[in-house]
Amino acid sequence: MSKRYLIISGLFVLTLAITIGSVSSCKKLMPDMIDPNFGVCGPVDDLTNSQTILFSRGNDQFFAIRDAATGLGPYFVSNSCGGCHSSDNRGHPFTILTRFGQTDSTGNKFLGQGGPQLGSSNLPGYTPEQIPAGAASSKFIAPITAGLGFLEAVPDTEIINMARRNANNPDGVRGHPNYSAVPSNIPPLYGSVPRADGKYICRFGRKASTYSLVQQVAAAYNHDMGITSDYMPINPYNYLDQTAPPASSPEVNNDDFNSVVFYVTCLQTPNQRNADDPTVKRGNALFVQIGCETCHKQTLKTGYSPIAALSNQTISPFTDLLVHDMGQALDDGYTEGDAKTSEWRTTPLWGLGLARNVQGGNIYLMHDGRAHSIQEAIKLHGGEAAASSARFSKLSTQEQNAVITFLNSL
Ligand code: HEC
Ligand code: HEC
Repeated sequence: MSKRYLIISGLFVLTLAITIGSVSSCKKLMPDMIDPNFGVCGPVDDLTNSQTILFSRGNDQFFAIRDAATGLGPYFVSNSCGGCHSSDNRGHPFTILTRFGQTDSTGNKFLGQGGPQLGSSNLPGYTPEQIPAGAASSKFIAPITAGLGFLEAVPDTEIINMARRNANNPDGVRGHPNYSAVPSNIPPLYGSVPRADGKYICRFGRKASTYSLVQQVAAAYNHDMGITSDYMPINPYNYLDQTAPPASSPEVNNDDFNSVVFYVTCLQTPNQRNADDPTVKRGNALFVQIGCETCHKQTLKTGYSPIAALSNQTISPFTDLLVHDMGQALDDGYTEGDAKTSEWRTTPLWGLGLARNVQGGNIYLMHDGRAHSIQEAIKLHGGEAAASSARFSKLSTQEQNAVITFLNSL
């Protein structure tokens, strides 16, 4: 029943394609044509007909290019979702974004000065935005968007239990959910209840500071593209220039907005390839043995979801949705929610082996894409992950290669 989508090379953002050569996009062409061994932009199985139509509309909106007439800016980072989330897998440094202004759990001090995100591009006639003096900043590269509806359906209790089970971990792995304040107009997720201080477990974004896909999509339109929605009706620009006329709100209508939320909720999970290959199996066993799996959880279960296809499923995202102290090298001095500046959400590893296909043969890993190989990414693991990273470096070359082969099968 599910529609399939063909991946085609370098068509949707001309400038991006020219700059980095062989970026690919997911573009709906005709049913049954996506190759799941190449990309991850199709829908989950078992959507109803009306859900498939909604997904298709969301797909169009996700890759639609906005301009000033359709609400873009005046400050923005890219002109479409797909411009950064090419093929719904990991993003390219060309569209990296910069956040600034928060150093601890007391919140962002630069909200009135353009924070939390730098509008690195602007429409003609506007002065380029600068990071205010004294504001700590960090760079974020787009994470994979596939499989997110399943991550949204993992119950809070499951996340809390994963943190509890680390209490006596001999490697010093701890991790905690990122509890953050959630704006009151964001609809509650099923089964999610606030802590005594009113904060909720959040799970999206590199710092896991975003509550739900609705909130994430509203923030993406607002901060990444300068587009207002019912959920975030004020353009960040109006904080910079109080005399500016308010944007004609909302610049993305509710039907389009909801279709995009549905699209990112129902993107398929990347399938593992070559799972039965003996080297992949050996690498998987070593991955568990040296402690990577303590954070990069191989198996999670979803709970109830209003979308039947996402309810009570077993998934292999290789994340625990917790934030972990990753040590000094990854401490950018900027944070969100109640994460420390050195804390990051365990990156889901699914789709890792497909990332190269959509990034012109290269990969850019970790929150700012600074690692250009899986080995480099592992070397950067400090703090709570230092012990397992050290164990990786003590493996024989053959064993290390098995771990890499396994990771490339994801
Ligand atoms: C300028 C590049 C850029 C654009 C444009 C952009 N994104 Fe993103 N997206 C990112 C980055 C970077 C992150 C990680 C943000 C964070 O850590 O808070 C992200 C995170 C996400 C996530 C959460 C993924 C996760 O693993 O938690 C979703 C969902 C998402 N974006 C959807 C969208 C949608 C929908 C649009 C268009 C309305 C969009 N994005 C536009 C760069 C972009
Ligand atoms: C203490 C928890 C923890 C442990 C243990 C751990 N990781 Fe990670 N891993 C993370 C976090 C957090 C990130 C994201 C860091 C960042 O973005 O700066 C990450 C990122 C990665 C990435 C980059 C993924 C991407 O798409 O950018 C890879 C690859 C990876 N880990 C592999 C491993 C391997 C292999 C091991 C075992 C040797 C391991 N990790 C052990 C928490 C952990």
